[in-house]
Amino acid sequence: MTTWPTDLPGLGWGADYNPEQWPEHVWAEDVELMRRAGVNLVSVGIFSWAKIEVSKGEYRFGWLDRVLDLLHEGGIRVDLATATAAPPPWLTTEYPEMLPVRADGVRLSHGSRQAYCPSSPIYRDRATALAAEMATHYRDHPALAAWHVGNEYGCHVNRCYCDTCAESFREWLAARYTLDQLNDAWSTAFWSQGYTDFAQVLPPRVTPTFANPAHVLDFDRFSDDALLELYKAERDVLRMITPDVPVTTNFMVNWTFNALDYWKWAREVDFVSNDHYTESQSPDRHIELAMSADLTRGLAGGKPWLLMEHSTSAVNWQHRNIAKLPGEMRRHSFQHIARGADGTLFFQWRQSRGGSERYHSAMVPHAGTDTKVYREVCQVGAEYGRLAEVVGSTVDAPVAILFDYRSGWALRQDAHPTADFDHWQHVLGYYKALWHAGVTVDFVAPGTNLSAYSLVVVPAFYTVSDAHAAVVADYVAGGGHVVVTYLSGVADEHTRVRLGGYPGAFRDVLGACSEEFFPLRQGETVTLTDGSTCSLWTEHLHLRGAEVVASYADGPLPGVAAVTRNAFGNGVAWYIACDLDEEGLGRTVGSALSGAGVAVSPKGVEHRGIELVRRHGDVSWLFAVNHTDTDAQIEASGVDVLSGTKVSGRLTVRAGDVVVLREEV
Ligand code: GLA
Ligand code: ZN
Repeated sequence: MTTWPTDLPGLGWGADYNPEQWPEHVWAEDVELMRRAGVNLVSVGIFSWAKIEVSKGEYRFGWLDRVLDLLHEGGIRVDLATATAAPPPWLTTEYPEMLPVRADGVRLSHGSRQAYCPSSPIYRDRATALAAEMATHYRDHPALAAWHVGNEYGCHVNRCYCDTCAESFREWLAARYTLDQLNDAWSTAFWSQGYTDFAQVLPPRVTPTFANPAHVLDFDRFSDDALLELYKAERDVLRMITPDVPVTTNFMVNWTFNALDYWKWAREVDFVSNDHYTESQSPDRHIELAMSADLTRGLAGGKPWLLMEHSTSAVNWQHRNIAKLPGEMRRHSFQHIARGADGTLFFQWRQSRGGSERYHSAMVPHAGTDTKVYREVCQVGAEYGRLAEVVGSTVDAPVAILFDYRSGWALRQDAHPTADFDHWQHVLGYYKALWHAGVTVDFVAPGTNLSAYSLVVVPAFYTVSDAHAAVVADYVAGGGHVVVTYLSGVADEHTRVRLGGYPGAFRDVLGACSEEFFPLRQGETVTLTDGSTCSLWTEHLHLRGAEVVASYADGPLPGVAAVTRNAFGNGVAWYIACDLDEEGLGRTVGSALSGAGVAVSPKGVEHRGIELVRRHGDVSWLFAVNHTDTDAQIEASGVDVLSGTKVSGRLTVRAGDVVVLREEV
């Protein structure tokens, strides 16, 4: 099976290309400018349904043929979309029942994009028919390198509450539970919710007050499956017609989105691709980017992956859309490559004149090519051209973070001890501590064998099956080190609380157990005996064999343990029962790292904000990204691949610069 865009020379570099937004005379110039910028891969046709299928079954390929021919003549490979991301108005007008319905019963209209119900048989039929047409028409086109199915599944509509979804949800449930099992798993004795017939079960629509948490979580799982089934339906059509062309769909592994369980999705694509946009107002946006890249590499099972979209500069959908400073887009691009991407593309090639994304940056801005953005695009394109040797190499990490999408879904529900907990930001806090320590991190799914890692962080692993809890305990018993954070192990897979003291699934391995949660008031902080502070969360923890690392010096629980450490079997389990400030978290994670024998602060690096990551193949490459405004010195030897300069012993990474060093051993 082909698992990478075919005949792609070196690292992938390009963008979404939407020629339908422009008159045909612009297309030749596009290809010319792409060549100048070193572009070798573009995604075409993502939002072209209305232009390709102009009425039911009436397909117009002429314009797209000319686009693909031009790209091919220019030596540019095409990641061709099945064009099913935005159903055209003629379709939803004829079949309004395919439009999605919100929890409050409002049916959404066409006029933007992704206006379809995930369970709609009409959407599914028309989408697979279009995918089949596309595959049949382009199967022999020499530019075709990969298939891009849909676009960011679930980006806007990931839950639909219509009657069709209600029916599919009931089927989904009936395939998993008897009525008795359902009533038990959902704790329906509470508030008189007992079901006597599957026909009574609805999607969790707007109700007088809080919905049933297990019901909501199962609806999340069902909705995820419904979208995955749609993707698979198109993929299977493509695989039948073009078995040698790899298929992908672009994920959204980032701070804005958590509706899909990408561990499941990743098994269904021929290569993993991701879209990442930084939170432009955040000073730590490059660290969140690194986390997304590492998680994407985890999803890809350590194999190279493709960054399908990021932005050359500002986006258009945040509250304030901050432009990137000179060099920032370049650093972002190289960060992804450093962390295992074998290509980075942008949304989009040419900045739109009209439409709701006209203020979103692109490779060719409104102002044209004599611009910071296009110049930097050409520079990075040329540099990627010199980096073909890293293609296929991989990244090793001594530490893993266990990342569970379902816990994220469960914890965003109503009626928890605090509404201010954010799963992604919580994980990011731990990731940042590791990033500042210069430690490369892998992400793993629940249930993964952890024995390859010296240390595993288990952050807010909230809804846990017995089997998945046992994997963590066995790892520690066998000599592993874990850092478990609060809200882990509290509930079973149906979000029922595990009784006998929190965190039920992990209290033995942690040697500690809480009797009551004590979330803090907004703005309240508590001081710990080691001088650090915490906010948001504390809990009344009792020791059951663990030793105290730090306890509360004030607040509602003075003298109670806040951070503990337990010897369990041959290993060590830390419990962080509060929300530590950045400094305290850095210190605690630092102690856990040294206890586990993981080397921190890479040799010679004196500054925070210098990112060092290695890719390994026959040789190793050190990627050094300086996010600060001062030059940095590191101890390293080898050849600077971008400049060709030899480095002996001491490498200077200038302020804001990137160096890729082929290392000498
Ligand atoms: C997503 C979509 C693109 C575009 C960008 C804008 O990633 O896939 O079509 O809307 O966002 O940031
Ligand atoms: Zn629906």
